[in-house]
Amino acid sequence: MNEPVSDSPLSASSNRSSSNNLGNVAADQAVAMDRMYRVTRHIYDLTRRYYLLGRDRLLEKVITSPTTATLEVGCGTARNLIKLAGRQHSGLLYGLDASHEMLETAAANSIRACTKRIGQEQIVLRQGLAEQLDAQRMFGRSAPFDTILFSYCLSMIPTWPGAIDAALANVRTGGVILIVDFWDQKDLPAFFATGLKRWLSLFHVHYRPEVHEALVEVGKSGRGEVSFESVARRYAYIATIRKT
Ligand SMILES: C[S@@+](CC[C@H](N)C(=O)[O-])C[C@H]1O[C@@H](n2cnc3c(N)ncnc32)[C@H](O)[C@@H]1O
Repeated sequence: MNEPVSDSPLSASSNRSSSNNLGNVAADQAVAMDRMYRVTRHIYDLTRRYYLLGRDRLLEKVITSPTTATLEVGCGTARNLIKLAGRQHSGLLYGLDASHEMLETAAANSIRACTKRIGQEQIVLRQGLAEQLDAQRMFGRSAPFDTILFSYCLSMIPTWPGAIDAALANVRTGGVILIVDFWDQKDLPAFFATGLKRWLSLFHVHYRPEVHEALVEVGKSGRGEVSFESVARRYAYIATIRKT
């Protein structure tokens, strides 16, 4: 059995904020995410299961085989990657996250999960930013990914257009980018939607229409075939982008 690979940023505190030769903006986002998750990462999976809806439906759409390579951008605690690792043929699994703190939890969770499953493929975790995604530099891959996931991550990234561009550049033609994120809650009763928005704002998360519109634009521009489906009456959407 292989252990999950933890890159040096997960273990070497001296590397914090300087991994991947990040500039100031990048370092700021990493610091912000570390601040946000330093404490909550310990209860993250327990608490988020009730409002990060649609994640398992997203995972059902991920096609894996012994030869596939799947990346989750903003992998957090590695909850999704560990679920994929439980498949008989999970292929190669990679996780990228801005937060060193989250990655420490992800590495510990991955090791725990993999020790239970003999013969498990390893989960490769790296610290870095979505908008700077580079399969070769970050993961030593000469080939692009078959699937890239964003699970409740894209709407959190200040420079999200760069994250979409980087994902398109690092997925193979015919490969798929899958996104689950908050939607406009239009099909929910108004009072419920208002209360929900207030509650979500306590966790610094919300629907960003401009992200959704940009994904529609990817389809219109011919960079990919884009489709959307609703989760729980437009609480969230799942976007599928097949790169053309
Ligand atoms: C709401 S959590 C979701 C975690 C996981 N995807 C899940 O479904 O449980 C968002 C994650 O995105 C990460 N993140 C935020 N901005 C990022 C960026 N620019 N690049 C990479 N990861 C980022 C955060 O550190 C955090 O782990």
